Amino acid sequence: MTESNLFNSWLNETKPYQAGKTFEEIARDYGFTKDHILRLAGNESTIGASPKAIKAAQESCLSSNFYAEPKSESLLKTLEEDFSGDVSLDGLAFACGNGMDSMIEHCLTLFTKKGDSVINISPTFIYYAFAAERHGLEIINVDREIKSFGDTTKEYFIDLKKVISSIQENTKIIFLCSPNNPDGSVIELDQIKLVAQVCQEKNIILFVDHAYIEFTDRKRLDVREIIKNYPNMIAGYTFSKAYAMAGFRVGYALMHKAIQERFLTLLTPFLISNSSIVAAQAALKDKEHLKRVVANNNSQALLLEQELKAFGFEVYRSHANFILFKTSNKDLFERLLEKGIIIRKMLSLGALRITVGTADENQRVIKAIKEINS
Ligand SMILES: Cc1ncc(COP(=O)(O)O)c(C=O)c1O
Repeated sequence: MTESNLFNSWLNETKPYQAGKTFEEIARDYGFTKDHILRLAGNESTIGASPKAIKAAQESCLSSNFYAEPKSESLLKTLEEDFSGDVSLDGLAFACGNGMDSMIEHCLTLFTKKGDSVINISPTFIYYAFAAERHGLEIINVDREIKSFGDTTKEYFIDLKKVISSIQENTKIIFLCSPNNPDGSVIELDQIKLVAQVCQEKNIILFVDHAYIEFTDRKRLDVREIIKNYPNMIAGYTFSKAYAMAGFRVGYALMHKAIQERFLTLLTPFLISNSSIVAAQAALKDKEHLKRVVANNNSQALLLEQELKAFGFEVYRSHANFILFKTSNKDLFERLLEKGIIIRKMLSLGALRITVGTADENQRVIKAIKEINS
């Protein structure tokens, strides 16, 4: 056997995940101290995790000579308690893993085989297509439509007919992201129900990605109630965004018990570290901190959106902690970088995406753009 045919053939063309230059690389390349750099590229919170979560994690380090719980049982229980505060979870259950990325990965393992297809409604979170490619799957891209408003405001939306008519015999999963990364548009529940119904009829999994749901009117958009009637649905969540805990790598998903039992068999034992389990539990209980992060975001997002429009940029309506925009200034990304501000270049869209920061951080961004434009 030669070295090359040891590898799965469909992996030959794959490229590594492009997360952008690291914070450390930028500090080195531009000669900045790390505290000069403003990180607004990854839709992370700049406010920081709940102090109670940090304290719990620090204390847990003292027992880090021991393995964590095999399936993060205590975190699953805390999630159930937290969620059942406003909806009954009868017949449903959680699984958790290293970020929602790992939930997506496990769905692909559970439900697909090489040669199957998944539906990717683009532009959307790039990890769906990235992971599907690594599983040898065909990726059916359905483009989102764009609505224009009177000024420079735009909004992406989904044409459900196009999504449904793109389903093939070999389609196994549809990914619906709401709010969607990279633009922040949302999908109303009646639309999700429609797709769920079709998925149920055609025996397809509907994965609804709610990474940013905490920033929205949850009652209006969260699928927890409708998932009960559609056993093929899975809803993914994460501690990386509104809980400000991206570095802890904890994601979770809600699904019917029958799927969850199979899901748990896939997880490597002791998957989530002790520190991450206790930090996530403490964060779930610290509602005041979550409220602070969300309130900061929702007020600052509005201000930032107005400021970006005032520069004449084309701005996409967002319900999340980031804003997608287009500018004719082709150098804006680089020029902001020279000032220590990292945002995200969305190459395929010819657009930029910026995470919403605190009032001071947003002022720094606006001032920097004014200087660049002058
Ligand atoms: C829409 C969406 N889903 C999932 C993720 C991954 O989240 P996690 O950090 O939990 O892996 C991200 C990360 O940016 C995202 O934007």
